Amino acid sequence: MTAKPKVWVSRPLFPDVLARLAEYFDVDAEAVERRHTADELKNKLAGVDAALVGLADRIDATVLEGNTRLKMVANLGVGFNNLDLDTLTRHGILASNTPDVLTESVADFAWALMLAAARRVGASERWLRAGHWPGSNQRFDDWLGLDVHGRTLGILGMGRIGQGIARRAAGFDMNVLYHNRSRLPEMLERECKATLVGKDELLRRADFLVLVLPFTPENHHAIGAPELARMKRSAVLVNIARGGIVDDAALAAALREGTLAAAGLDVFEGEPQVHPDLLALDNVVLSPHIASASEETRRAMANLAADNVIAALGFGEAAGNPPTPLNPAVLARWSAHKA
Ligand code: DGY
Repeated sequence: MTAKPKVWVSRPLFPDVLARLAEYFDVDAEAVERRHTADELKNKLAGVDAALVGLADRIDATVLEGNTRLKMVANLGVGFNNLDLDTLTRHGILASNTPDVLTESVADFAWALMLAAARRVGASERWLRAGHWPGSNQRFDDWLGLDVHGRTLGILGMGRIGQGIARRAAGFDMNVLYHNRSRLPEMLERECKATLVGKDELLRRADFLVLVLPFTPENHHAIGAPELARMKRSAVLVNIARGGIVDDAALAAALREGTLAAAGLDVFEGEPQVHPDLLALDNVVLSPHIASASEETRRAMANLAADNVIAALGFGEAAGNPPTPLNPAVLARWSAHKA
């Protein structure tokens, strides 16, 4: 009997998904969530045919150096700025991500942050839990927040998640503006009731600005001090995209000085570290990168990553046709080799 291919899973995963993988592979799954060093990644990847990795695992030339075995890396996330795709492709290693299955859950969460930041949910809950309510003589004009309905929603980055956020805005009777590299097809614009504007106009007009753009070198600090200065003092910024798109120090300064009303952040520069100035502020709602973390969606993401590995390594009904490859040129090269 030939040995099963080896698969490494870099973070604890749902047991039923691991069981699916174990039907085809010899699976080495981490039981504890932790950040791996480049040396650890290099060693683990040298001994396997495929790996399921998380966004904290940086897969680049250093960790792939000398690796002649690895065929496939499945990312547990739609964003893949942790993968050096050019290097993977050069090594003939297929990569995949988890698009679509998380779109609606992430769009829901963008709304959770918008509403929580606008209506001061985090700060008022902390106050209540600290026991301040009894005896506080809470005034009629305490805890005043910002209305969301009827305001202007700005979306920077209008992919599938941005469109999901826009569609939800109809229920809040909002005016929706967006800025994107390319204009949406007319039908989608109509469906989202969204109007394309320049970045500067988006910054100036948005009451709520939600960031949903991919993290690329060009998008580093796409929202820094100059951009924040163009926004309304009453505006709310929401980042569910990636840390590093916002200059967190500049954002903390704007929130502290009152040149921006509030923010909701799910992602941070250098996470899991959070800028200490943000931690000290009450007008920002903070969450630990959980926008896709609903039971159904995280399960669907794990299963999609597993589907990709199973198919890429030639097993299951979709053998040879992984559903969401990032560098399909590698698949073409594999088939050319076989022919
Ligand atoms: C992604 O999939 O890129 C998200 O950030 C994970 O929650």
